[in-house]
Amino acid sequence: MILKGQKTILRPIKISDTSNFVKWSCDSNVNKFTTRRKNNKKEIEKWIKGIPKDKTQKQFAIETREGKHIGSTQLLEINPQDKNALFAILIGDKDYWSSGYGYDASKSLINYAFKKMKLHKLYLNVYDYNKRAIGLYKKLGFKTEGTRRENIFYNNKFHNEYLMGLLVREWRK
Ligand SMILES: CC(C)(COP(=O)(O)OP(=O)(O)OC[C@H]1O[C@@H](n2cnc3c(N)ncnc32)[C@H](O)[C@@H]1OP(=O)(O)O)[C@@H](O)C(=O)NCCC(=O)NCCS
Repeated sequence: MILKGQKTILRPIKISDTSNFVKWSCDSNVNKFTTRRKNNKKEIEKWIKGIPKDKTQKQFAIETREGKHIGSTQLLEINPQDKNALFAILIGDKDYWSSGYGYDASKSLINYAFKKMKLHKLYLNVYDYNKRAIGLYKKLGFKTEGTRRENIFYNNKFHNEYLMGLLVREWRK
């Protein structure tokens, strides 16, 4: 499935994307905002091969309209009973940060989640030092629902982790 935005195209993740994901997961200026884990080629390939089999996930590669692969965005933990899912996004290529790509790709996936999948709610977690992501999520309409206090140890300091959520009726507005 392909989802077209104004600046981005969301398409299925392919095995040939592996090297980009390995590079981004090993970049400490990128992974400090996500899992802070380095993933090797074998682990990433296993992850990509498993995606089509997993009904609790929808994962997309983010490409620019010019066809450059710059990141990924996903719905995880899709729960058909409660009609909710975990939303996640990564622009791994730092040259494309703060240029509207994250917002555009997020809008495409959120529209799909609410309009096509008929979900009721999306939720996520974000570290307090990730000002760019917090700005994006607020712009998209996510509201802070709670704080996991001093949950993350990064740069010799404990950091808060915020839980945020977006309801379908807030997105329609
Ligand atoms: C977080 C991320 C997805 C944001 O995407 P982006 O393309 O860089 O952001 P956008 O240019 O679309 O900006 C959207 C909004 O985010 C906020 N924002 C963007 N850059 C910002 C910055 N440097 N500081 C604070 N807020 C910022 C603004 O509110 C912006 O809206 P505006 O342009 O109208 O002011 C992207 O930077 C990224 O993937 N970073 C690394 C991985 C990561 O942090 N993932 C999220 C983990 S929770």
